[in-house]
Amino acid sequence: MFDLSLEMLRVVEEAAIASARTMGMGDAKAADHAAVESMRRSMDTLAIDGTIVIGEGERDEAPMLYIGEKVGTGSAGAPITVDIAVDPLEGTNLCATGGAGSITVLAASERGGLLHAPDCYMEKIVVGPAAKGSVDLEAPVKHNLKAIARRLQRGVDDLVVVVLDRPRHAQLIADIREAGARIRLISDGDLSAGIGAAVAGTGVHAVMGSGGAPEGVLTAAALRCLNGEILGRLVVKDDAQKERMQSMGIRDVNKIYTTRELAPGHGLVFAACGVTDGNLLQGVRFTGDGVHTQAIVMTSTPARVRFIDTTRLENKPDVKVRFH
Ligand code: FBP
Repeated sequence: MFDLSLEMLRVVEEAAIASARTMGMGDAKAADHAAVESMRRSMDTLAIDGTIVIGEGERDEAPMLYIGEKVGTGSAGAPITVDIAVDPLEGTNLCATGGAGSITVLAASERGGLLHAPDCYMEKIVVGPAAKGSVDLEAPVKHNLKAIARRLQRGVDDLVVVVLDRPRHAQLIADIREAGARIRLISDGDLSAGIGAAVAGTGVHAVMGSGGAPEGVLTAAALRCLNGEILGRLVVKDDAQKERMQSMGIRDVNKIYTTRELAPGHGLVFAACGVTDGNLLQGVRFTGDGVHTQAIVMTSTPARVRFIDTTRLENKPDVKVRFH
């Protein structure tokens, strides 16, 4: 029986293997290209009528997985119609330098189930299930941290907040420090950090600051499955960008989006596979006996979260399977 989540699992696994082969080579473009190329190729084998709604950019700037591109076998067989959001390699620099936490990601839903976010920044706050409903994007940082701490039944000084290490976050970092919480500064990857905030045991209690808006939609798709929360507001750089947003149908560019507004789909599927070792997922391991991957695959309906270890075994007589 056709199971979209298992097909999506295969797509992110293969993209992770392709990009992991470029790990540490110092070439972020090559790492990204390997993931994009692999994702595009494997998507075309799927019996779906798919449309990329979040991808590598506009048609004229991206040769593959551009916004509006059709993927899948289309009319052959009995295709299902889906919108797809991809971040073929989140953390391209992390992969290029062998840094922690790069992943391959995609989300799918029935038509209209994922916001068509423009490629701009989004101011975000992400929390897990326990702190859901307690934060407000417009409230002072101190207020939000107190609210999260109260929900998690701990002191503010026991919280860990992940923030992208960028000059634009200097005030945010100062405010978090002043409130007494601890900070994990990351060089890239606020999407995987956001997933981590919704999974108990990762040691991440919130993610704050601005990162990519497309990553915000993908985070929302994951959080719908994990019962977490993201609040996001697009960051408008200039009038030209504002006009572009309005031409995309965004009437109020200052709107604060909720998780459900970013990813309203009923039948959401989210899949991510580790490329380099991270908080949540192990990276790709190449051994003489095969290639090992670790992925997370989730669906909103039915509510399922699966952590999947896969070994693609070499075809040889003395092949061994190892416990990871
Ligand atoms: P890439 O995967 O495209 O390299 O993006 C990584 C990332 O760190 C995201 O996780 C984050 O949302 C965004 O870039 C932040 O953008 P910027 O590097 O411009 O601050």
